[in-house]
Amino acid sequence: MRNFIIDTDTASDDAVALLMALRQPDIAVKAITVVAGNVPLSQALQNALYTVELCGADVPVYAGCQKPLLRPLETAQEVHGQDGMGDIGLPLRGRKAARGHAADALRQVIQAHAGDITLVTLGPLTNVALALLRDPELARQVSHCVIMGGIGSGHGNVTPTAEFNIWVDPEAAKIVYESGMEMTMVGWDISWRYATFDERQAAELRAIGSPYAEFAVDIQATLTEFSKTENHLAGFDLPDPIAMAAAIDPSICEYHDYPVAVTTGEGLARGMTVVDVLGVTGAAPGMRVATSADRQAFVDLLKSSLS
Ligand code: RIB
Ligand code: CA
Repeated sequence: MRNFIIDTDTASDDAVALLMALRQPDIAVKAITVVAGNVPLSQALQNALYTVELCGADVPVYAGCQKPLLRPLETAQEVHGQDGMGDIGLPLRGRKAARGHAADALRQVIQAHAGDITLVTLGPLTNVALALLRDPELARQVSHCVIMGGIGSGHGNVTPTAEFNIWVDPEAAKIVYESGMEMTMVGWDISWRYATFDERQAAELRAIGSPYAEFAVDIQATLTEFSKTENHLAGFDLPDPIAMAAAIDPSICEYHDYPVAVTTGEGLARGMTVVDVLGVTGAAPGMRVATSADRQAFVDLLKSSLS
């Protein structure tokens, strides 16, 4: 069994990534920590609790930070829906979180499994940064951290230069990127290139016919429209699930180690992940950057999770 802890701003793509981990027979999800991002914290918490219940999993879910470290919260409800889950009328309320703050849960679970825990982050890095500020030693106790965030190469999704998770809380991202943790970055470029599903491909997933498959596709209702009209994609893309796939089976992506710096300015200088491909800065190549993915291997893993 491999131990995972997942930090998430649970909306429609996060929920599929959670489901992939929760239904993977050789993965023990020790905790799910929730952060504000796609939707306000309270909604992200309910979405995570609903997904855990759908999977019949016994995994504690902790509420974390309600806003970025130093900036007001900017949500993405126009992307994922007001409830973050496609506004299809799911009963996303009334479920109870575990007691305690997510940043403390991160610290306790990582310390309890030091050297044998994979941290997968699917949202803004506020909770993780807070835990690292409280105890920098955590960076050495996490075996590996897979981050859905940033851009390995190409354009952003929230500004031309930035991806949403990093852009929402750039100061938190800078703390995490500079923490010394062993990290893999699966940027949004990997998602739109290898994890986009057009109508036929989405119908093929849904035709698996399980409650998981129908849930995974139906909650992408808002994301589908947004992706087509704003991101000029053929259909919804699944950034968190392809990052989770890389955590479950690293061979799904190819990587290159580069120095990656995060900018904390304003405007186009906000939340950039600056990848030093040529090594001109002389900084250590501390980030394993996903540079490509095997689309078929990803789809196969996703389909097996939904079956
Ligand atoms: O930019 C994509 C990321 O932002 C995904 O994690 C999505 O869920 C949103 O959090
Ligand atoms: Ca997310």
